[in-house]
Amino acid sequence: MIRSAVRGTGSALPTRIMKNADFEHVVETSDEWIVQRTGIRQRHIAGEGETTATLGEAAARAALHDAGLTPDDIDLIVLATSTPDNTFPASAVDIQNRLGMTHGFAFDMQAVCSGFVYAINTADLYIRSGQVRRVLVIGSETFSRILDWSDRSTCVLFGDGAGAVILEAVEGEGTVADRGILASSLRSDGTHKEKLYVDGGPSTTQSVGHLRMEGREVFKHAVGMITDVVEATFVASGVTAEELDWFVPHQANKRIIDASARKLGIAEEKVVITVDLHGNTSAASVPLALAIAARDGRIKPGDLVLLEAMGGGFTWGAVLLRW
Ligand code: UT7
Repeated sequence: MIRSAVRGTGSALPTRIMKNADFEHVVETSDEWIVQRTGIRQRHIAGEGETTATLGEAAARAALHDAGLTPDDIDLIVLATSTPDNTFPASAVDIQNRLGMTHGFAFDMQAVCSGFVYAINTADLYIRSGQVRRVLVIGSETFSRILDWSDRSTCVLFGDGAGAVILEAVEGEGTVADRGILASSLRSDGTHKEKLYVDGGPSTTQSVGHLRMEGREVFKHAVGMITDVVEATFVASGVTAEELDWFVPHQANKRIIDASARKLGIAEEKVVITVDLHGNTSAASVPLALAIAARDGRIKPGDLVLLEAMGGGFTWGAVLLRW
């Protein structure tokens, strides 16, 4: 049986770091409020020349280097983003071109903060169908460019960055001892659109718009939605929370992460938290956290790893895999 296994990871962050204290001159806020309510201490902000495509390319190159591969070895690029460089063409195709790839195909995937989980699930299906052998799955975002910098309830939360994972076809036995993706669960529900959206777009305002969020409302739904999809992957695979080695959640708010882990019965020391370093980077947050934990030696071959995300739409999802 074909499984989709992780062959390499990479990440890229803009050069400029903005600390919480730097916001004290922008809006009425404090380092103390931001740390207590979110766990965020700093975020990276894209500068001139840094875009979703350039950050995505840098993360992709880092993942290729980590995997010992070249762009020639990649069949498909799936880029999860809500902040593409242009309305079209897809930034994935721009990244394909930047990597010097004139073979294969590339497309963007839009599921806001759940984008990377959706993209991993999509890549897994392409691989298991036999259509492709290796997929470069990227999450790249420049949310700083859609923030309302006068709205303290949102502008302190988000940051820019990119992460990438290379998935490749490996032979498995069809058991949970296999390397690769073991189970996925995706959901969406458009009745929650108004709680987290961007108030512009080509078909409505002919402008990009700004991010709008009812944070408390999103918070209220997040833990239940996250735990539902995670439990669906447990049921599908027969894996239990105790068996997990690492929980790599969407990095939006440390309080949501802690409450989800507690409800699922996942021990604190198994939770990868990087939100303090880069804030909420939407679709980039899970691959950024994965790349950091793989690079520093926490995630090792054979480990059982659980990914999850929840965001605008609402969309939410979880993926269980063996590294
Ligand atoms: O990635 C997609 C998913 N998105 C999320 O996961 C975000 C989910 N939501 C959250 O993380 C939290 O709801 C927030 C961090 C956005 C807010 O935390 P909260 O504990 O839910 O605070 P709140 O919205 O209930 O606001 C509490 C107070 C309010 O003042 P009053 O009405 O109590 O006087 C806000 O005006 O905090 C105020 N406030 C701020 N104060 C200082 C809101 N933003 C700030 C700020 N600095 N930046």
